[in-house]
Amino acid sequence: MKATALAHPNIALVKYWGKRDEALILPHQSSLSLTLSPLSVTTTVEFGASHDQVELNGHTAKGSERDRVLRLLEAVKAMAGKALGPAKVVSRGDFPMAAGLASSAAGFAALAVAGRAAAGLPAEPRAASILARMGSGSACRSVQGGFCEWQRGERPDGEDSFAVQRFDAAHWPDVRMVVAILDRGEKEVKSRDGMKHTVETSPYYPAWVQDAEQEIAHAREHIARHDLEALGELCERNAWRMHATALAANPPLCYLNSATLALIQHLREQRKKGMPVWFTLDAGPNPVLLTDAAHEVAAEALARACGAVDVVRCVPGGDAVLKAEH
Ligand code: DP6
Repeated sequence: MKATALAHPNIALVKYWGKRDEALILPHQSSLSLTLSPLSVTTTVEFGASHDQVELNGHTAKGSERDRVLRLLEAVKAMAGKALGPAKVVSRGDFPMAAGLASSAAGFAALAVAGRAAAGLPAEPRAASILARMGSGSACRSVQGGFCEWQRGERPDGEDSFAVQRFDAAHWPDVRMVVAILDRGEKEVKSRDGMKHTVETSPYYPAWVQDAEQEIAHAREHIARHDLEALGELCERNAWRMHATALAANPPLCYLNSATLALIQHLREQRKKGMPVWFTLDAGPNPVLLTDAAHEVAAEALARACGAVDVVRCVPGGDAVLKAEH
């Protein structure tokens, strides 16, 4: 009735931006990401508690945050097909919530894996990915390690919308992602609201969907060949296109700030001088740099020279795992 799981966050190289079903969290297009180690979230789920309790990073969760956790566990109970009683959830990330890199993907992936185990359900990446997706879309890509592809699926019930692992963490040990925290503040418009607004008001949205879907196959080829330059170019282009689509919303949505643009400018200059470094950018001002092991220290220095208050150097992460209960 009790289980603990650890999961890593992921960074999308081909982004997810927009839902075709808000309730089930079904995307308009597929996306592809890399799981990031050493960052992680550890979550314990215990059924049969006196009442539902959700503790996230030492605080009692309230409102929609709590509802999302309990809703996912209701789906676990339905899968188990038995009464499991109220749940106690304790979740802790080893990176601060407001560090500029969302921990929700790792959190919901760990919750799905721990929730299934606590309910006595077998470890099954596909089922766990579907559950994680119901908490937060990008979380479905954190159930497994390495490079994962969230296939959009076609079905209205979402049973074919989950992430599959394309390459495991050992496939490309030399690749590095360097998270540059320029701004620790909470983002002004959360991804959930920003993507909804983009779908509803951006005239560029259909082009975004078509383009992102096509880029997946190209990204897979570049990863298969360890072609950092081709993957870097693709990853930057996809980030720009996501932001361009959001900028075209009405009113416009701009997640970049002047520090973001200054870093991007500097990165381009370094690249002209021969440094293999590219960037991607989620719905916030903090870029994540893509490079290789030989240049991760230089990439960190580049980020710090551009005002990064914190930098996290990441390697490909592994699958979400269950931890032994004591
Ligand atoms: C820009 O997965 O956080 O990071 O499904 O509404 O919870 P919800 O959104 P979320 O959005 C992530 C958006 C992104 C791109 C990505 O990770 O693919």
